[in-house]
Amino acid sequence: METIVFGKLIDYSINENKVNLHFENYDAYIEFINKDIFRVYSCIKEKVKSFSIEELTTTPVSINIEKINASLKINADDISIIVHDNLKLDVYYKDVLICEDYKNERAPFIRHALELTESEEQKETSKKVSEGEGHKNNTNSYNHVIEVIKKHNPNNKYYGLGEKTGFLNKHGYEYEMWNTDEPSAHLEYFKSLYKSIPFYITLNADIAYGIFFDNTYRTFFDMGKENSDYIYFGADNGNLDYYFIVGPCIKGVVRKYVSLTGKTPLPKKKMLGIHQSRWSYGRNKRVDQIIEGYEKNNIPLDVMHLDIDYMDNYKVFTYNNERFDLPNDTAKWKEKGIDIVTIIDPGVKAEDNYFIYEEGKANNLFATQNGQLYHNRVWPGKSAYPDFTKEETRNWWAKNQHIMTNYGVAGIWNDMNEPASFDGPLPDDVEFANDGRPTNHLEIHNVYGHLMAKATYEGLKDTTNERPFVITRACYAGSQKYTTFWTGDNQSLWIHLQMAIPMLCNMSLSGLSFIGTDIGGFGADVTKELLIRWAEVGAFFPLCRNHASMLTRDQEPFAFDQETIDCYKKALDYRVELIPYYYDLFYNGELTGDPVLKPLIYNYQNDFNTHNLNDEFLIGDSILVSPVLEQGKTKKLVYLPKGNWYNKDENKIYKGENYYVIDAPLHICPTFIKCGSVIPTYPLSLHIENKDEIIFNIYLDEFKEISYNHLYDDGKSFDYRNNIYTLYNISISNDTINIDPVINNYKLYNKITLRIYSDNNIQEIITTGNKQIIKF
Ligand code: GLC
Repeated sequence: METIVFGKLIDYSINENKVNLHFENYDAYIEFINKDIFRVYSCIKEKVKSFSIEELTTTPVSINIEKINASLKINADDISIIVHDNLKLDVYYKDVLICEDYKNERAPFIRHALELTESEEQKETSKKVSEGEGHKNNTNSYNHVIEVIKKHNPNNKYYGLGEKTGFLNKHGYEYEMWNTDEPSAHLEYFKSLYKSIPFYITLNADIAYGIFFDNTYRTFFDMGKENSDYIYFGADNGNLDYYFIVGPCIKGVVRKYVSLTGKTPLPKKKMLGIHQSRWSYGRNKRVDQIIEGYEKNNIPLDVMHLDIDYMDNYKVFTYNNERFDLPNDTAKWKEKGIDIVTIIDPGVKAEDNYFIYEEGKANNLFATQNGQLYHNRVWPGKSAYPDFTKEETRNWWAKNQHIMTNYGVAGIWNDMNEPASFDGPLPDDVEFANDGRPTNHLEIHNVYGHLMAKATYEGLKDTTNERPFVITRACYAGSQKYTTFWTGDNQSLWIHLQMAIPMLCNMSLSGLSFIGTDIGGFGADVTKELLIRWAEVGAFFPLCRNHASMLTRDQEPFAFDQETIDCYKKALDYRVELIPYYYDLFYNGELTGDPVLKPLIYNYQNDFNTHNLNDEFLIGDSILVSPVLEQGKTKKLVYLPKGNWYNKDENKIYKGENYYVIDAPLHICPTFIKCGSVIPTYPLSLHIENKDEIIFNIYLDEFKEISYNHLYDDGKSFDYRNNIYTLYNISISNDTINIDPVINNYKLYNKITLRIYSDNNIQEIITTGNKQIIKF
């Protein structure tokens, strides 16, 4: 493909925050969204509405321009951009060059093996020889219509890009954004999985900036694989449209990125609890047995997921009434403290007289090809695909959610929405109405899951008036406003447990905060040891769900032995205690955009030891988790960044900026609390309920004043957005603890327990929820 070339810069004009650039071959503009974000845009194809940025508000910035020979220098506050011919940009922040476009042609590395052969024909024969044994031959990436090439500085690190395999730092790898249903074992060289978040962060010395390439077609990101002098991103379709976000720290980039694409809303408290799933608990009796198993072993449980077999012949919005009795079953389970989430896939069974199919057909709500209804095959067999780009379809789908809530269902799990298809991929020319600007599958593929989740969220919100719980497999940038995410079909492999950490960390850096992987692994039979280690890590994931594939061995904790039960329970018990801490983190996330689970670089980017740290993460600012991720290991090399850190299992304080070898037998997941923190916890219980008591765990740090805000509300409605909540401020200085309900529009706790931790000593004080000052 021919890459477009802008040519010589001819002319420019300024229009408020926008600098219009007139090049020989194309026009473009640079628009300042505010003083830290600018957009680089050129309409190569046609004007489109962003699916991820629903409201773009700009703040006035004063721009001045200098002409430097054939280039322009645009100055706006701390950012300066030198615009060269061919729309090549050099970006300065406070006069420091932070990002330089690569001025030469791309120069991919050469695969010399094929040079042994002279002719094209011989090359093909050689390739076939290796393919004979089943080897897949790699080829270099071709040129793209749109290409933006950025110079790689040897110190640069790259993060983000959503849900990708591999490591925290993405340098040296190439990726594609094309939502992909991939059941085979996800490996480091995979270019795409279920989600497309065309956003990455560059950490250049101590300045971080992000680039969000808002193009929903298949996009390409080479993070320095083909040549170590540059990285590039590109597309073969759509427009050149990217946002350049100056942090100047990683935290700043993430916060500003979600200020564009949306923040994760505070979830229902119950959904932060323990989820158990498998493909499938196919009858109510089996669900009863699982709940009993949890009860008998005193292991906490909050939510059970019903996979595709609860349906009548995989027909969405139906259930199999020989195997389930809804809503009586859901009511019975609710009594026991268990909420039910059911799967809803997009594929609608093409069956006459099936009401969803009939309604969809009658109202033209499905995708078409050559004007005819398009079908492919998924679980129900021949199926139609709702056209979620159409407002009528989204409204219809949203309204259908009440069928599920009438069955007593508490949340919806959207799967197969890449969209997946068993009879080959959806052809490029499958048509979508796209709210008045008809387009095809190439443009819609990556936002199909996003739009489905959005319709589901809106439907649940309307019918329940509570915070909806939606979990999706496929998504696009911005889906975090509507849904939770899990990372699809991983396997019960140690490398998948290892990979879960950098994958989730990079999802967090890409704006997705409510995330988790299938604990224990989805495909293949898990071993006892792997299940325990996975539960120890997974108990910290924002979404904590054990899930397994059809015909794999039972994966519930009690399917193994007493040691498994004990270790698993220990991990989950701590999670249940930590619920108010997670809740505060989500609330804070809705306000600031900070993710719940974070790589250490989020807080310690100036510490080089954190730049490639793949096996540790933070929960909020105060909990550092450094799990065992290898079979047979009982010790862990732990890196602790700046500060003093309290080892939860040893009740001992370690000094940061050091590596330590920590004992970690099977029942221990090395976990450290930052001294100078307050962590709110609940007393242990088997199910999460809104409690009228709280424990504030105070981890003292010498001479350090501590202040912490804690939210107390009903845990499920949107009332908190109308200020109906109580906000406690807990502050500690010297030997005084100040408990202050600074906002009190909900209610006060009946009981507050203060637990004060110092090296080898825990002091406990029990008091009321009133405003008070306590000496200790
Ligand atoms: C897909 C999902 C998996 C689910 C299965 C059956 O493979 O990723 O989680 O269990 O479909 O619905």
